[in-house]
Amino acid sequence: MLVRNIFFAVVLAVAPVSSAFASGGDTPTPPSQSWQFEEGLFGMYGTYDKAALQRGYKIYREVCSSCHSMKRIYFRNLEALGYNENQIKAIAAEYTVEDGPNEEGDMFDRTAIPSDAFISPFANDNAAKFANGGALPPDLSLITKARANGSNYVYALLTGYEEAPHGADLAQGQHWNKYFAGHKLSMAPPLMDGQVTYEDGTPETLEQYSRDIVQFLTWAADPHMEARKKAGFRVLVFLILFAGIMYAVKKRTWADLH
Ligand code: HEC
Repeated sequence: MLVRNIFFAVVLAVAPVSSAFASGGDTPTPPSQSWQFEEGLFGMYGTYDKAALQRGYKIYREVCSSCHSMKRIYFRNLEALGYNENQIKAIAAEYTVEDGPNEEGDMFDRTAIPSDAFISPFANDNAAKFANGGALPPDLSLITKARANGSNYVYALLTGYEEAPHGADLAQGQHWNKYFAGHKLSMAPPLMDGQVTYEDGTPETLEQYSRDIVQFLTWAADPHMEARKKAGFRVLVFLILFAGIMYAVKKRTWADLH
């Protein structure tokens, strides 16, 4: 018994240390931000802020999309951000896609339409790596799901660039980031104050941009969150009512049994 207790005590004492090493030593946990999509008990009342999603999409378009694809998102999905059909058509029409083959067997370029996926910045991964000093900018469609604590992590990453500590040798194109495992990130700080123009008077700061792009990316990775939470809430109410009814039925059925 004693031996077993000592064994568990040792395991518990060592576990956090070893997991800290596994995550790159001194990578801090991203601080939790308050998000509208996580409001309520267990995030039950969470909804997306459409204005923030639109601003986030603007940042993706004007900044991130020059390196990062979002292959799983289609222009028509932008309806969820509050755009109408004509606005979506107009947005898609700003892009060109390769289509084909035509009757003669040739590929051809045409204007994008709402049923097209977001256009990738590079033809393939090799081209993407070549343009980024050997590092592959990951597709951002599911990034907030692909990383632990994804929304807080991406926010922390975008706002977590720091002066490299003395003695840290960064290779060409690497940047010191507090929240990136290993800290050496092959992405230059993509956002800075005043970089993207907001028409609705929202502050044009690094923090606000980061909040907005994170909300957009969270929506992209989980577009059905609102419907799912609504359904979950209804199921919960139903189960509580049903349990009450069953309790009453049970009481009644056994009422005469003494
Ligand atoms: C100039 C190209 C470039 C731009 C612009 C850019 N990125 Fe990156 N990004 C990269 C590269 C390259 C990597 C891979 C870095 C690595 O693995 O070290 C990366 C990695 C990432 C990662 C993954 C980090 C991880 O945990 O692996 C996220 C998240 C990310 N970028 C978000 C963004 C967002 C959001 C924007 C727009 C605000 C943006 N990036 C703009 C090149 C870019």
